[in-house]
Amino acid sequence: MSRLLLVSNRLPVTVKADKDGVTVVRSMGGLATGLSRPHERSGGVWVGWPGDVSRLTDAQRAQVESQLANLRCVPLYLSASEVNRYYEGYSNRVLWPLCHYMLDRIPRQDRDWEVYRKVNERFADLVAQQYRPGDTIWVHDYQLMLVPGMLRQRLPEARIGYFHHIPFPSSEIFSTLPRRQELLKGLLGADLIGFHTVSYVRHFSGALLRHLGPDTDIDRIIWEGRQVRVGAFPMGIDATAFETLANDPGVLEEVATIRGKAEGQRILLGIDRLDYTKGIPRRLLAVQRVLEREPAWRGRLRFVQVAVPSRTQVEAYAAYRETVDELVGRINGLYGGVHNVPVHYLYRSFNERQLVALYRAADVMLVTPVRDGMNLVAKEFCAARPDEDGVLVLSEFAGAAAEMSSALIVNAFDVEAMADAIEEALEMSEDERRKRMRALRVQVKEQDVHWWTSSFLTRLEGLPAVAEQKT
Ligand code: UDP
Ligand code: G6P
Repeated sequence: MSRLLLVSNRLPVTVKADKDGVTVVRSMGGLATGLSRPHERSGGVWVGWPGDVSRLTDAQRAQVESQLANLRCVPLYLSASEVNRYYEGYSNRVLWPLCHYMLDRIPRQDRDWEVYRKVNERFADLVAQQYRPGDTIWVHDYQLMLVPGMLRQRLPEARIGYFHHIPFPSSEIFSTLPRRQELLKGLLGADLIGFHTVSYVRHFSGALLRHLGPDTDIDRIIWEGRQVRVGAFPMGIDATAFETLANDPGVLEEVATIRGKAEGQRILLGIDRLDYTKGIPRRLLAVQRVLEREPAWRGRLRFVQVAVPSRTQVEAYAAYRETVDELVGRINGLYGGVHNVPVHYLYRSFNERQLVALYRAADVMLVTPVRDGMNLVAKEFCAARPDEDGVLVLSEFAGAAAEMSSALIVNAFDVEAMADAIEEALEMSEDERRKRMRALRVQVKEQDVHWWTSSFLTRLEGLPAVAEQKT
């Protein structure tokens, strides 16, 4: 049977070393959380970075390796300089802001490309070592855009898929990148290239046409004598698992506790990595606007914002954290009282049970990124509402908006319009809430993560093999 070889920068678990020893914890972010269950089911292996292990003793490292082996994870260790230049540098100081349309965040001069390329080579070497004939290789995300091409050189006959978890920007934006051609060629090493939405597919085809001018249909390219397919495959979540948790008696007890502490109040909820793409400042300003213009809501709103620490060594993230901290302080200073503050700001991460309790306790979920490839939190919220209640306010700039039209869709740059949407959500009739949530739940359950994996892999495995194309 064909094995699935998953390849991503981050493994689904991350090693944490501190004074109490080493632990292996669940990784954060949509890629790791979303692909974990398909990996559990597939019986294949996952190649990726387990986080910083430089301070581990030999014995600790051996312990970690055996834990990773049990999880069928193959670690690729990065040196401190590779972390700094490949991961924080080219991936997160250049490609991440570029794909999210934030050109002004990119350093004027790029010094990290060579290291990005070298680490991509290291990934390709390790994957080639792991590969057995008949395996399907599935490479994930912007940190590894050169890997499909490098694998094609090492394994000309292999079946290779690539999925881009973040937006692919308009070719006007992509074209500003000095290394645009190398990156496009890297992706074309794959047999199938997947994006979350049809607009990302269009943007990608536009960039190909402009820079490589190959023989291009929107979904099929002839490149170096091979056919490369491109398609939209919107990623889903494990909806059944979230629903099951949402009905778990322990979780329901926690829901009651959360609601009990907010007696007489409505709960607004935001859950994000602390990332400048997530639109947290304007979301806070929108909540502030509601309190400013509607005195009746003062003291009656509790906005719980979970912000998971992320990429803390990248300057833009540290600066963003300060902006968010200041705004939270300002709003709580203006509208807080001795017994209550409007914004409950939690700079930490939660496990799935705790998240589901928050989802189920919320009246309104605010998912308002200024740009987001998909946003799985929006889908998890709906899956965690078997009570068919709760309102989702969703940015039109999240990939999820293409599928979740029954949410209240907002322009995340328009603070006033977001304040209106929050009020509309708070005042929405029960009938309307149920109608919308029912439609959202049907979508989230039908197009779940297993549907996503199988539609991508069925397409990939159904394509003619490279050898057949040549005959
Ligand atoms: N998440 C988590 N703990 C937290 C906050 C978030 O496990 O405290 C998970 C969340 O359940 C979701 C993922 O992190 O699966 C975030 O994915 P999303 O697509 O929304 O955004 P990304 O972080 O990938 O940009
Ligand atoms: C997004 C990216 C993933 C990444 C995740 C967490 O979901 O698409 O590739 O793993 O964020 O970010 P991190 O830098 O901690 O891996």
